[in-house]
This record gives sequence, structure tokens and C-alpha cells, in this order.
Amino acid sequence: MRNDNISTKYTVIKNGKIALADLNQQFSEDVLRGLSRSAKALPCKYIYDETGSQLFCRIMELPEYYLTRCETELLEMHKDSIGSLIDGERCNLVELGAGDGKKTKILLEQFLEMGIDFQYCPVDISESAVKQLASELNDKFPTLEMNGLVSDYFDGLRLLSSQNHARTVVLFLGSNIGNFSPQEAEAFLIRLRDSLNHGDLVLIGFDLKKADIGLILRAYNDSSGVTEQFNLNILKRINTELGGNFDIGKFRYLSTWDTQSNAVKSFLVSTCDQTVYIEGLDTSFLFRDGEQLHTESSHKFSEHDLSRMAAKIGFDVIRNFHDSKRYFANTLWKVKK
Ligand SMILES: C[S@@+](CC[C@H](N)C(=O)[O-])C[C@H]1O[C@@H](n2cnc3c(N)ncnc32)[C@H](O)[C@@H]1O
Repeated sequence: MRNDNISTKYTVIKNGKIALADLNQQFSEDVLRGLSRSAKALPCKYIYDETGSQLFCRIMELPEYYLTRCETELLEMHKDSIGSLIDGERCNLVELGAGDGKKTKILLEQFLEMGIDFQYCPVDISESAVKQLASELNDKFPTLEMNGLVSDYFDGLRLLSSQNHARTVVLFLGSNIGNFSPQEAEAFLIRLRDSLNHGDLVLIGFDLKKADIGLILRAYNDSSGVTEQFNLNILKRINTELGGNFDIGKFRYLSTWDTQSNAVKSFLVSTCDQTVYIEGLDTSFLFRDGEQLHTESSHKFSEHDLSRMAAKIGFDVIRNFHDSKRYFANTLWKVKK
């Protein structure tokens, strides 16, 4: 078992502070809790180690994955308006779940060109993603001030609220918010608002509801099987980091549309009765033939959902931006307290 040589911690990549946190301990606890439930489920954030982050980069290139293309088009179309709306006194531009930051680079380039005074702080649970992004940005934008943080959103927010003297602009792109249930999304947005000051801004990406459910489902079930590999990566991580003995070939990937929650639900399905032992937890888990392990939810939102959420939680909607097909929205909200 390689539990003890995983160094998951807050890592500040450039000019800044270092604080330690044990994400690995949390991984063990969440796996134990998630696999002990009658309806087995694991938080999707654990898909993202180095392999998971690389697989997600491949997902974003897939012809079926319309979300990235739509948000890229949207940002290209509206980058100058977004720049004008966030311009002002110096700010911390904090990105939660930054990933490879490919789309963010559109905004960073625009903001630098406009002479906006900011420091960029990408936060991501995937250490490899933050390191890779920091190195790319150092090369591409040598004048960019940057502090990368390897942490969970909520630890990132806690750090934010302890240091929030400067004006803050938060980016939460790529429909990351869709991975939360509506209740979790609301709780997350409340914590986000509580971490910020009156007048701070957030730009959030939402994948919008569409009549064509087939289009949505294809984005999560590509013909080349990359999404399946992405979801299976969570079992591989458990094997590598917690000493599990999952036989990956005995699970298949399933994605379904849940009308009630307006979400794609992704599962790994056991193809036989089997027992999996996880050395790091010293526990065995029984999987029945056909039993589902929930790995990810991807909720879709209406325009009305966005304005209702903003009003309920305490944000003023500054402006909604769309791609040309209106498949995707980025909404700019201002904190009111
Ligand atoms: C769906 S990808 C989107 C990446 C990027 N925002 C984009 O639009 O391309 C989600 C990213 O958020 C990170 N992530 C997921 N859950 C997280 C969490 N709870 N805390 C911090 N980062 C998280 C993942 O590592 C991954 O890089």
C-alpha cells in the first residue's frame, strides 16, 4: 500500500505562503463512507489525480463534449465585456477547479492586454493540474502574478476568507457547479458568498437545460470510451493509493438522464457478485451483480434557476453571457451584503 507517500497538501506554487492539509486522510474517510452506503457513491473530485486530469483534457477535445466548445466561444465573444465589468481596483482573480485553464487563458490574455491590475490564484484538488498550469502560464505570460493552490474548493475558500483584504473576483468555469446536487450547490454558493466581501464578483459557468437530451447524454458517453476510462480512474486510484484490489475489468460505465433532477448520473456497474478488499481501510466491500456505484452527477440549469439562486443567496446578477447556440451560460454576479 502506498498511502503514506502521497503528499497531498496546500502547495503555493509561486510567491506566497504554504499551509499543510491532509487530503489523503479525507480520501480514505470518504471512500470508507461512500462504499459503506446502501447506495454506493464516491465524490467525483477523487477522479482527478494526474491521470484523471489528463483524461479530462481528452474529454474536452471530444466531438461529443459540446460544453468546452460552447464556453470557449462564449469567452472569445464576450472577453472584452467581461474585462470591462471586472476592471477596477487591484483584485485577486481566484479560479476554483481551474483544471488545465485553457479557457481561462482567453480571459487572462484579455485582462493583461487591458492593463487590469490582478493576481491570478488557481485552486484545484489535482496537484498535477495546478503545477502544469502554473508552468504553462509562467511561459505564456511572464508578467502574470500567480499563486496556485492545491486544495479542495472549501479549503481554498477558507484561505480566501482569511486573506480577503483585496477585492476578489472568483471564476468557477466549466459547469463544475453542475457536479453538486441543487442543495449542495446552494450550500456551496452560500459559503462562497460568506467568504467574499460586498461588491466582490463571481463568474460561474452553467450548462443550460436543453430539449435534446440525446445531445447531453452523448457528451457523457463518448464513442471512444474516454469518459468510461475517466470514471474508472477512481477505482484505479483506490487500488494505487489505498491498496484496493478492484478488478477494473469487472465494472462497466453507465450514464443515464435523471428527469427529476435534470442531471446526467454516471455510475460504475459491477458485472458480477464480487468482494473488493481495501488494505488501507482494512475493510471488504461486497458488490452484487448489477450494483451501481455512483461516480458523478452533471446537473443542467434553466435561466430561471440562475436568477432564482442568485437572488436567494444574495448576489446581484450583473450580466449573463451565452454562446451562439445558447447551450451554455456564464453569469457574472456581484456579492451584496
Ligand atoms: C470538470 S473539470 C473543469 C476544469 C475547468 N474549470 C474547465 O472549465 O475546463 C473540474 C476541475 O475541478 C477540479 N475539482 C473537482 N472537484 C474539486 C474540489 N472539490 N475542489 C477543488 N478542485 C476540484 C478537478 O481537479 C478539475 O480540474
